[in-house]
Amino acid sequence: MGNQVGDVATTKPDSTAETTIAADDWQPSIVAFLCNWCSYAGADLAGVSRLQYGPNVRIIRVPCSARVDPQFILKALQNGADGVLVSGCHPGDCHYIHGNLVARRKFAVIKKFLEHIGIESERVQFSWVSASEGSRFAALMNSVIDGVKRVGPSRKLVKEL
Ligand code: FES
Repeated sequence: MGNQVGDVATTKPDSTAETTIAADDWQPSIVAFLCNWCSYAGADLAGVSRLQYGPNVRIIRVPCSARVDPQFILKALQNGADGVLVSGCHPGDCHYIHGNLVARRKFAVIKKFLEHIGIESERVQFSWVSASEGSRFAALMNSVIDGVKRVGPSRKLVKEL
């Protein structure tokens, strides 16, 4: 019996090629927590400049990167995100004086915790992007997506109901 659409060929030599193509097509879902004053505007600039980055990025605007509770990152991973980005203003530019530095400290702790429980470091990233850095934002998103693609889909924290 010949192969039909949807059949999984396991014995043919070209089935590996089909699997490889399918894996290359996989687009990780990324949740990006972006500070309203800088990174969100940088993402907006990337959009109006028509710069390309992966399609499965869900942006959540926050008033400051310090507003990102570590639980938000855990929740995103539990709810099926393959990667999480937190991005704030550059040091010295935070509208709440030291919010971005506080965020960086919190982030370092949660990242160590996640690595301790077996979450690959590529999955959770922290960065600074200003409102004028649309191209930097697009490049950052592509680099986050490439990193997550290297480690594959995230299943460790996903809740199975
Ligand atoms: Fe942007 Fe604090 S206001 S990181």
